[in-house]
Amino acid sequence: MTQRIYLDNAATSFPKPECVYDAVDRYNRESGCAVGRGISLESTRLQQTVLRCRQLAAELIGAESPERIIFTSNGTDSLNLAIQGVLRPGDHVVTSRLEHNSVIRPLRELERRLGIEISFVEADGTGLVDPDDFRKAMRPNTRLVALVHASNVTGTIQPVQEIARAAHAAGAFVLIDAAQSAGHLPIDLHTLPADLLACPGHKGLLGPLGTGLLYVRPGIEHKLQSIRQGGTGSDSESEFQPTTLPEKYESGNHNAPGLVGLEAALQWLHERTV
Ligand SMILES: Cc1ncc(COP(=O)(O)O)c(C=O)c1O
Repeated sequence: MTQRIYLDNAATSFPKPECVYDAVDRYNRESGCAVGRGISLESTRLQQTVLRCRQLAAELIGAESPERIIFTSNGTDSLNLAIQGVLRPGDHVVTSRLEHNSVIRPLRELERRLGIEISFVEADGTGLVDPDDFRKAMRPNTRLVALVHASNVTGTIQPVQEIARAAHAAGAFVLIDAAQSAGHLPIDLHTLPADLLACPGHKGLLGPLGTGLLYVRPGIEHKLQSIRQGGTGSDSESEFQPTTLPEKYESGNHNAPGLVGLEAALQWLHERTV
């Protein structure tokens, strides 16, 4: 067999640990159920695997509890939920020139649609942003500070902790894009005061494509609107979106094979990092 050298791990990691392929294959061949939509033995087993996936993700980043982890389809999906869910007409956002299009484009869209205002903080010659530039950019109506943890272009690790503290001092919410750091760098939400943290499941977390997550700090769910409504497999007699987590933000069938693979990947990481 020809040896292929894969250098695109920043886009998506490859190969995944063997246990990820095994878990996805086993799910596809032997289970096939939908998450939270049945009471069969297989369905209950799957529900437990998905809960374990949430627990492992919560533990990895120091989240308070598993329901604080919202499953999405990728990093972009998580960032869109955070940005579109939190911003309102007249809001101001501070972000950096280092952001990925999955932050810039939702912001530009809301600038056009809702009239939000955006301030961009420049990076220095080494690819770092200065917390003082963030402090200077804050306004009374700054609702959100959105910052990439590790740049996908330069690899520089931003001073997210200091900037998050400065944002809170100014009364703004903090969104961290951990797409290139989760699974590679320690992330501890006990010390990093992020309100929202977005990352894909398919990069450093080593899960399959089609997985992502958004962490929501306790209390933020009251400020974060759902951007997609529908079936959640819970409270089905109600015509209104549940307000409980994680259901509020998880409408429609889950990517079950993806989550089963992500659970195996997180378990693999857990065994090697704890
Ligand atoms: C910094 C950063 N943010 C967000 C994303 C988007 O992640 P996804 O491709 O899972 O949508 C990427 C992807 O490369 C990224 O590098």
